[in-house]
Amino acid sequence: MPANPYTKSMLVWTDELSVSVVEIDDQHKELFARINRLFGALDASAAEVELRTLFSFLEEYVVKHFGNEERYMQDYAMYGYADAEHHQSEHRAFIRDLREFKIDLEGTDPGALFIEEFKRWMHNWWMMHIEHVDKGLGRFLQSAFPLLGRKQPL
Ligand SMILES: [Fe+2]
Repeated sequence: MPANPYTKSMLVWTDELSVSVVEIDDQHKELFARINRLFGALDASAAEVELRTLFSFLEEYVVKHFGNEERYMQDYAMYGYADAEHHQSEHRAFIRDLREFKIDLEGTDPGALFIEEFKRWMHNWWMMHIEHVDKGLGRFLQSAFPLLGRKQPL
């Protein structure tokens, strides 16, 4: 079977992406799984109804996940997390762009190049956001609450 040319843009979670907060890491893993399911459906030229379902399935979890991170920022604001405004603006921009892609990808046959562009955007966004923004939140939470990094409850 020939290699899928887009396989490399599938999102793979590794320990290097850990933000040192188990709950957030677990949510990133779930997000990657939902993103990869959508990528698979796009590659397979799935029916519009299936793409719509998978986009909603992803969007719903993205909103929940961003809400979760933002709750941490608000709840522990008194401990001095300096990046909250910028962090939340990245979240808002992602949701806006995801919705725009959704409109373009669900409707008419988007074509391989456009699908590739979407996948590259998605891949780059998560790699950059986790590395440069979420890890900062993780370091802040970890310094205030070291137990958030524990894999097992006490
Ligand atoms: Fe984030």
